[in-house]
Amino acid sequence: MAVRQPPGRRAPVPLPDGFLHLAGHFDAAAQRTLLADVAAVIDAAPFFRPTMPRTGQPLSVMMTNCGPLGWVSDRDGYRYQVDHPVTGRRWPTFPAALTQLWSEVTGYAAGPEACLVNWYGEGARMGLHVDADEHAPDAPVVSVSLGDPALFRIGGPARRGRTRSLWLASGDVVVLGGGARHCYHGVDRVRFGENGLLASVPGLAAGGRINLTLRRVTPPG
Ligand code: SIN
Ligand code: FE2
Repeated sequence: MAVRQPPGRRAPVPLPDGFLHLAGHFDAAAQRTLLADVAAVIDAAPFFRPTMPRTGQPLSVMMTNCGPLGWVSDRDGYRYQVDHPVTGRRWPTFPAALTQLWSEVTGYAAGPEACLVNWYGEGARMGLHVDADEHAPDAPVVSVSLGDPALFRIGGPARRGRTRSLWLASGDVVVLGGGARHCYHGVDRVRFGENGLLASVPGLAAGGRINLTLRRVTPPG
């Protein structure tokens, strides 16, 4: 008699090659230190509300950046620029822990140039997308989760491919290298108020989740 899979059970979608989830990479003390640095970044470069190209539809996350370049999105499109779109000032420099993280986990020939700071308040999410505005497509993307847990979803290089979901907790690091660098990913939801770490940091009292995304934008050399 043929052996059948129990109904409703499918083999899990494999994670793409080059995807790394370093759970608990930053311990509680390191998270606090990093968050204090992030609070200083936000003080110098306040969150702005990005909007979708053409439609001007607001995104649900708020954003800012640190490092020589920052990613922005408005009616004119997605791009990297050296200055804050509202204050006109240069982005603040990277916290030391982030450049250290980059060299530890990527082994890439050149340093990161941009760190996007995404803030997820209550109900915020991020639709499936590929990070594709960089001219160093061989450089991994490295991200750090701080605060409330997020349901992260990753698929393949085609928008309609099957996807797999995993929870990212405070202190976790994700590396999108190799094939994963060009895979669709997004955040379906955040368990707002569960972790409470942000709310304990002066300047981040609204709570929620912060994701720091480090990227190389220009080719090395
Ligand atoms: C992103 O892909 O830009 C953000 C991912 C995350 O918030 O974990
Ligand atoms: Fe992304």
